[in-house]
Amino acid sequence: MKEFFLAWSTVSMTTKVVRSIAEMQKIAQKLHRKGKTIGFVPTMGYLHLGHLSLVRVAKRYSDVVVVSVFVNPIQFGPQEDFNVYPRDFKRDRMLLSKEGVSYIFYPQARTMYPKGYKTYVEVKELSEKLCGRFRPGHFIGVTTVVAKLFNIVQPDIAVFGQKDAQQAVIIKKMVKDLNFPVKIVVAPTVREKDGLALSSRNVYLTPQERKKALILYQALKTAQSLIKQGNRDPQKILHTMYELINSVPEAKVDYIEIVDLDNLEPVSEIKDKVLIALAVRIGKARLIDNLVVKL
Ligand code: PAJ
Repeated sequence: MKEFFLAWSTVSMTTKVVRSIAEMQKIAQKLHRKGKTIGFVPTMGYLHLGHLSLVRVAKRYSDVVVVSVFVNPIQFGPQEDFNVYPRDFKRDRMLLSKEGVSYIFYPQARTMYPKGYKTYVEVKELSEKLCGRFRPGHFIGVTTVVAKLFNIVQPDIAVFGQKDAQQAVIIKKMVKDLNFPVKIVVAPTVREKDGLALSSRNVYLTPQERKKALILYQALKTAQSLIKQGNRDPQKILHTMYELINSVPEAKVDYIEIVDLDNLEPVSEIKDKVLIALAVRIGKARLIDNLVVKL
């Protein structure tokens, strides 16, 4: 109880929750007129230290930080977890206030996608690779909502996490191709002490599954040391990774790939820099993780 009061007493009361698109746009325009730069962190809420690390990066790069909290229905497939995706706006608001965030954009789904909504943004090819093969339409949902959010929040810079490596690559491509005047910054993955990447979806794991989930990071680290030891054959490294992960009966691999950082195409030989990315289902959770390995 004491902790709760302490937490609240340190909250700055200047964080404003904005639910209307027109109001958010007005605020953004006013800030720009005053010469202030806007740093933006789009999220789906249920915040953890990974999200908050992005907020801290945004703060370093800009005068005013805006965070959006919106569980975007169009990036979830019909069989996916939209309805059960964890939500706790009160807690999110408290955490963001403590970080000194000025505005939280918190729209409703019907505000973002009113009846008759018809426009979608697609980054071709990149969206079909890696997670795209298992989540058809997912990245169209992501690029569409991020494009809308950029037009609403009008940021100078926006921060994304390396945790969702493919998402970051796709957003950068969209910004380049559609000439959004936004600088994209990618911040490192925040992990638990034992290596598990923080994710809102980790709440789906039982304590036993949580332990088993460590195999993802262990496999990535094993691949990294094999490369550092001089292995250059992606097939051999992937074989070792599959063996490790398949040794955990609860783990069901969607994919493990070693790809080029720019085009996400599998590499035939490991040279200078590669992205090792994987998606594995454990119990009700679909977990993704990755490492960039530089020679
Ligand atoms: P969400 O999963 O809430 O993630 C919001 C941002 O936090 C993303 O840029 C993600 O890469 C980053 N993030 C998540 N876990 C992280 C970790 N452990 N370390 C560092 N960063 C982490 O990604 C989305 O929401 C949505 O697709 C969104 C971009 C908001 C569009 O709806």
